[in-house]
Amino acid sequence: MTRKTLVFPAGTPLARTFLRLAESRGETVVGASSHSDDPCRSLYADWLTLPYLHAPDFDDALVEAVRAHRITALYCPHLWAWEYLRNKLPRLLPDVGLNEQHPLDTELRLFRESIARASAWPPGACDRRLPAMERAALLRHAETIPGASDDAKIDALCRIFATCPRGDLVEIGSFWGKSAFVLLRLAQLHDIGKLLCVDPWSNSDAGDQRESSDEIAAVRGRIDFQEAFEVFLVNLLPYARGDLNYLRLPADRALSRYGLSCSVSSEEFGETVYEGRLACLHVDGNHDYEFARRDIEQWGKLVIPGGWLIVDDYVWAFGDGPRRAADAFVERHRQALSENFIAGGALFLRLGGAIA
Ligand SMILES: C[S@@+](CC[C@H](N)C(=O)[O-])C[C@H]1O[C@@H](n2cnc3c(N)ncnc32)[C@H](O)[C@@H]1O
Repeated sequence: MTRKTLVFPAGTPLARTFLRLAESRGETVVGASSHSDDPCRSLYADWLTLPYLHAPDFDDALVEAVRAHRITALYCPHLWAWEYLRNKLPRLLPDVGLNEQHPLDTELRLFRESIARASAWPPGACDRRLPAMERAALLRHAETIPGASDDAKIDALCRIFATCPRGDLVEIGSFWGKSAFVLLRLAQLHDIGKLLCVDPWSNSDAGDQRESSDEIAAVRGRIDFQEAFEVFLVNLLPYARGDLNYLRLPADRALSRYGLSCSVSSEEFGETVYEGRLACLHVDGNHDYEFARRDIEQWGKLVIPGGWLIVDDYVWAFGDGPRRAADAFVERHRQALSENFIAGGALFLRLGGAIA
């Protein structure tokens, strides 16, 4: 018999996640709710209304619905309803399975992982370590934003911010805002400075990566950059609090703009006044060699002694522009560098002195 799952109650975030996954596996799902006007109704191809859980007719209505719709399994994302069904199902519908994991554990799994990861961090030597719960909050919220920054890179960012001087932060290439969120939150927690996100969020030539492998162009062809910009706003607006703004420009044009005035205004974030000197530069824009070289050289000159320059995708399966550009920078400015390491594929460079 083909699998057909009744999701009850069907309107919770866990229920919607279940629906998406089941649909991607080609499974049939029927949504159910006790609210006659449940707004999630339109998400489900099949829908039915059940009485409230402790109503005298709930059990009979459930059995009837399962038989009428040939349901083979039940998915219940609701803490208390799950307890009720776990007790009742063996008697009411012995052949119909129920999700085994308690919704309590499903809801808390990602929080538990973040708290465990943050608590397991080795004690650092510096005195500016974040409290474990701030680290856990950072990890958990970062996880809700899609993007390529992995755990190793986020851990490394947390480490370097503990010794970062005061100044502006600039990110070249913000896309949906995952790394921007991490930079912003760390800058706020350590009182470093304000973040400027530079990204054209457009299909223009400035973002065209001709030297990368075919998969990069294929994905780029699918991206709606206006949507990407809106996703960035959705992710960053709740956290900005006057500490973030953006220039919707390619990195070279944004540099001229940043050089002209330290004040950046936008409709969404208002006015942000920057210091004009960089404590941290994250380069993750166009990965072709010439673009990466220009971003690193031109913006890198503004990084102050003690500050950090991060070149993302230094180790990358789809091209070598960032690596060649970063290697050329290291070669030219070796004397000015005091520290370097690779984490999560990104190269982290600390400046000991000014870049000539
Ligand atoms: C890999 S994504 C950035 C991902 C982001 N840093 C993260 O980790 O969440 C690259 C971004 O660079 C932007 N970009 C491409 N060319 C650029 C340029 N010339 N200047 C600035 N940004 C550019 C693209 O629009 C895209 O949003």
